[in-house]
Amino acid sequence: MPKLTFHGHATFSIETDDGVKLVIDPFFHDNPAFSGSVDDIEADYILITHGHYDHVADLIELAERTGATCIATFEIASFLESKGLNASPQHIGGGVQYPFGYVKLTPALHGGMVALPGAESFSTFPAGLLINFTSGERFHHAGDTGLITDMQLLNGKVDVAVLPIGDRFTMGPNDALTAVDFIGPEVVIPCHYDTWPPIEQDAHAFAEMVGDRAQVQVMAPGDVYDF
Ligand code: NI
Ligand code: MN
Repeated sequence: MPKLTFHGHATFSIETDDGVKLVIDPFFHDNPAFSGSVDDIEADYILITHGHYDHVADLIELAERTGATCIATFEIASFLESKGLNASPQHIGGGVQYPFGYVKLTPALHGGMVALPGAESFSTFPAGLLINFTSGERFHHAGDTGLITDMQLLNGKVDVAVLPIGDRFTMGPNDALTAVDFIGPEVVIPCHYDTWPPIEQDAHAFAEMVGDRAQVQVMAPGDVYDF
């Protein structure tokens, strides 16, 4: 069973049964919800949903220290390669088989800026992640997105879905509830809320709204969940 660790906001680590370490959207130093030490974060692969600061702030430092392969849309991957970092470019709708599983980028409706020094001329489409682990589990991190009908294409293809519920910049709880109906996962993990006052939400109230549609796993920063 992959081991999922929540670092606050939209940042997660996953360790596979084989000990492969993934980090999704590295945001540590300036993440008010992260209380660990960024130096303890290890990565074989870093997966990036989009280029906003709260998803890439520690990307370059982590990629340099770990030598991890960065999985991202072509434009972000190209920028990282220009910095001498290892990257595996993909784009929306395309998948790549990695040793730990098959990663497909899914559509997300959001902003495309790449907020890294020197990346001013790089913009891209934001993405979600669909990971079919070699061990069988099917995991989706929706990235930052509003509710989109494209989510219906994921129906029956996701066991564990990480969905933003913060509102203002992404789906809020009501739209996330519709996303649960669209995707039909067994387990829902809310993210992208409570990091700052403008995106405060009651995740437990969201869990009550979801009811028996799915099991809602509310994770506090630092929590670990085996799925
Ligand atoms: Ni964003
Ligand atoms: Mn964000």
